[in-house]
Amino acid sequence: MSSLAGEIEKIAAGYPESRSAILPALRLAQEEHGGWLPPEALREVADALDLAPAQVEAVASFYDMLHLAPIGKHLVEVCTNLSCGLVGAQQVLEAFEEGLGVRPGETSEDGEFTLRAIECAGGCGRAPVVVVDEHYREPVRPEDVPAIVEELKRGD
Ligand code: FES
Repeated sequence: MSSLAGEIEKIAAGYPESRSAILPALRLAQEEHGGWLPPEALREVADALDLAPAQVEAVASFYDMLHLAPIGKHLVEVCTNLSCGLVGAQQVLEAFEEGLGVRPGETSEDGEFTLRAIECAGGCGRAPVVVVDEHYREPVRPEDVPAIVEELKRGD
């Protein structure tokens, strides 16, 4: 048994049914696979939890924080859902697109940055919300973007 499978089984032991452990198991598998979930990671999770691969894949494709393709060293996510959209999220997204030189949904050629538009990040009261490497920045206005881009390029 791989060490990942062993860790997943430990997680599953804390739940009455193994399928309840899908999300934490996928988070762990993603961490172990360098920040994304290749097909073998989905298989490992399915095997460890004794579930059908399709069940695991359905969960993995539903959540924004789970990635089915490789992501850059830095992940910039701009919420473009209703509350954020009403206060300029599209302009914030465009400012990141220009600053990072990458289109939403893509990763820069040097592998440094992935830019994504995401659904509600749960911070509607402080919209527009941007999540940079899993840390919330809120609110972010288009004029705040160049400083964030500089910070990321410097590697702060
Ligand atoms: S709509 Fe953007 S955080 Fe909720």
